[in-house]
Amino acid sequence: MTLALRSSVTRIPSRALFAVPPSERAVVVGPTGSGKSELLYRLARRYRQLLVLDPKCEFRLPGARIEHEYRRLGTGENPRILYRPTPRDLGNATAYESFFWFAFLRKETMLVVDETMSVVDACGPRCRGMRACLVQGRSRGVGGLYATQRPSLVPLAVFSESRTAWVFALNLDDDRVRMEKTFGIPRESHADLPEHGFWFARKTGGQARIEGPYLLDLAGGDAMRE
Ligand SMILES: Nc1ncnc2c1ncn2[C@@H]1O[C@H](COP(=O)(O)OP(=O)(O)OP(=O)(O)O)[C@@H](O)[C@H]1O
Ligand SMILES: [Mg+2]
Repeated sequence: MTLALRSSVTRIPSRALFAVPPSERAVVVGPTGSGKSELLYRLARRYRQLLVLDPKCEFRLPGARIEHEYRRLGTGENPRILYRPTPRDLGNATAYESFFWFAFLRKETMLVVDETMSVVDACGPRCRGMRACLVQGRSRGVGGLYATQRPSLVPLAVFSESRTAWVFALNLDDDRVRMEKTFGIPRESHADLPEHGFWFARKTGGQARIEGPYLLDLAGGDAMRE
């Protein structure tokens, strides 16, 4: 692990956020209100072929097709789809499994999973479709941005298959331990983060490099980093 940590926070515009290659996976972790979704919206806009699981119906992606019925995910031409399960399907394992299998079969898609715990709540810790996307997605061009409040309760594969993490200040020891074990973020370092601040970690060759703390400037530009 290498650390590039400063004592003062650096404000960054969203165009300075690291761009996850389209067939890679990445995680965004932090408690409620920390800024995960704000960060996800800005990352997601960079991908042409996109499939978002948005159970809280709050994702902002102008121009995307909004679909509520999992059986209809495959209809339509728009390459960007926001899937907002109907209230009936929020706890329905078939709906969630279908979402991931649709992505898997579609290929060349960046998956965005806001509220990854909603998948665990619906399917239990073994969602076969999600696991297929995580473990076999690369060869099919299926990437993923997975956000969660509770990293310790989400399947380990989400972290072991991801090379990139944005880590907001976690409150609970189990969650801090998971990020220390998977990305080398020292468990005591969460206390050093300001409100909405995060660490950025990137694994290369088994080594994690950790940078920060950063604060996303919500008023900053949204153009993609070259
Ligand atoms: N960098 C930031 N600067 C200022 N305000 C921010 C920042 N990031 C997020 N916020 C604000 O904090 C609030 C919560 O942000 P957001 O919805 O992204 O949190 P979240 O982590 O997704 O929470 P939840 O887990 O409950 O979904 C929003 O009002 C958002 O505008
Ligand atoms: Mg959110």
